[in-house]
Amino acid sequence: MAGIAVVTGAAGGIGYHTALGLARRGTGVLIASRDRRRGEAAAERIRSEAAGHSPETAWWELDLGDLASVRRFSERFHDAYDGLDLLINNAGVMALPRSVTTDGFERQLGVNHLGHFALTGLLLPALLTTEGSRVVTVTSGLHRRGRIALDDLMSERRYGKFRAYCQSKLANVLFALELGRRTPLTSVLAHPGVAHTDLARTGNRFRSLLIAAARVGAQSAEDGALPLVHAAIATDVRGGELYGPDGPGERRGKPARLEVAEQGLDEETARRLWTISEELTGVRYGTFVQH
Ligand SMILES: NC(=O)c1ccc[n+]([C@@H]2O[C@H](COP(=O)([O-])OP(=O)(O)OC[C@H]3O[C@@H](n4cnc5c(N)ncnc54)[C@H](OP(=O)(O)O)[C@@H]3O)[C@@H](O)[C@H]2O)c1
Repeated sequence: MAGIAVVTGAAGGIGYHTALGLARRGTGVLIASRDRRRGEAAAERIRSEAAGHSPETAWWELDLGDLASVRRFSERFHDAYDGLDLLINNAGVMALPRSVTTDGFERQLGVNHLGHFALTGLLLPALLTTEGSRVVTVTSGLHRRGRIALDDLMSERRYGKFRAYCQSKLANVLFALELGRRTPLTSVLAHPGVAHTDLARTGNRFRSLLIAAARVGAQSAEDGALPLVHAAIATDVRGGELYGPDGPGERRGKPARLEVAEQGLDEETARRLWTISEELTGVRYGTFVQH
């Protein structure tokens, strides 16, 4: 496929290999992340590895933990492009000590869910004018352990690093499915299984060792990207589907269609989370006539 894709968090890890996979298929790629040095180096590597295939690859600054940055990114995008073929909501943080984003949101929910909620809403006009456009939102097998604490969404009363991560990854699922119900877009979910990336780098040696032990048998970041690329380009993919590895425990393997956990199918929670997300981000999606 040709066209243009925005891949968040594509300076490294699974996002990088997803961007490379798309570039090799002739799609232009915008790497959207925070660090200029890493982002530009990744763009350079993709340009050389996908030479002759991708029409354009560039790094654009985006901090999903800062709504002003999300707005700047989307304004720049609308100035430069009329349409958007693919949005891959991939960037993420995991199991951090509690901190808040620039806008005061608990960081894992703020970056993983609310930042992507705002970005998708702001890029919506470009997605809607592009025939066959898709949004792929990246979740985790850990969404199955998630619970949305509507009475303490920012984990102010009770914070657990993994609890907040699982909540954010369940929020990704509820968002993607509600996006498909509320708009005419093809909104798909993907998860990479367990893959060797920088996600587990916590700055705490003991905790990092524990996470590394839990990751024995993990697959490469390149293989972890395969379900994302499949969700983005395969012609038999339908809105509302989830793709991930087909091996035991969904940890590794070839891309396959998987079931969403029951709590991810809860439409009432999805509606409530949507309303709260609109209020918190100030990004309103409006209403659409479904055909
Ligand atoms: N690896 C796994 O085993 C695994 C398992 C399940 C799900 N996942 C999911 O896969 C996705 C990718 O993770 P990964 O494993 O590839 O992790 P990674 O190697 O740490 O990559 C995450 C990327 O997100 C970017 N990022 C972080 N905070 C950001 C922010 N505020 N604004 C914009 N970009 C930001 C980082 O780039 P900068 O620091 O330059 O901004 C980084 O390139 C995540 O959604 C994660 O939850 C991963």
